[in-house]
Amino acid sequence: MTGKFITFEGGEGSGKSTQMSLLSAAFAASGLPVVSTREPGGTPGAEQIRSLLVSGSADTWDPVAETLLFYAARLDHVSRLIKPAIAEGKTVICDRFADSTLVYQGVGKGLSPEYIRSLHRLTLGNFAPDLTIILDIAPEEGLARAGARRGSETRFEEMDISFHRQVREGFRAFAKGEPARCAVLDATQDKEALHAQIASLVKNRLGLAL
Ligand code: TMP
Repeated sequence: MTGKFITFEGGEGSGKSTQMSLLSAAFAASGLPVVSTREPGGTPGAEQIRSLLVSGSADTWDPVAETLLFYAARLDHVSRLIKPAIAEGKTVICDRFADSTLVYQGVGKGLSPEYIRSLHRLTLGNFAPDLTIILDIAPEEGLARAGARRGSETRFEEMDISFHRQVREGFRAFAKGEPARCAVLDATQDKEALHAQIASLVKNRLGLAL
């Protein structure tokens, strides 16, 4: 049997990493094979592209060039890591995926959703997550949380607050358009309560025995 593909999305500091670790531990405790990965990144080539994208000043890249770099990284990641793992029956849990491009480069930087969707079709066909969990938080709160662990990967965090507000609204709007795939959850609640909500979504929507 093939595995499932679950993605986590949300603004900066929404707690994706914490929830990914809790979910991956729940899979392991239930004896279900799982692989955790992230975007941009996940393979050696895509990690190299990541370092080009997440550091430097906010205006380092032309928005279209930036989008092509995200898709170059994504294609390498999907073809070399995600699809092979799914084919072996593993569930892949990924920190960000194509919805981030629609929201950050689309809504945030003004590229049309049609452009991004055609690029997706050209590179990946109709490959899409089985479930997308969107962790929703006010950008002021999320950026304060993210700031507390600030490293060198600050390029997107440094965009102004209106960019981050658009990102939040973008995720909510795309989720409304695809309710069977996407679930928006309140990221400000207690982390164990949030994990319980995520685990029940995985059980109910994907039929996995967590
Ligand atoms: P991270 O902080 O969640 O690791 O993600 C790195 C940054 O890259 C984050 O600020 C969002 C941004 N990003 C995009 O702008 N477009 C994309 O397609 C992806 C995957 C991430």
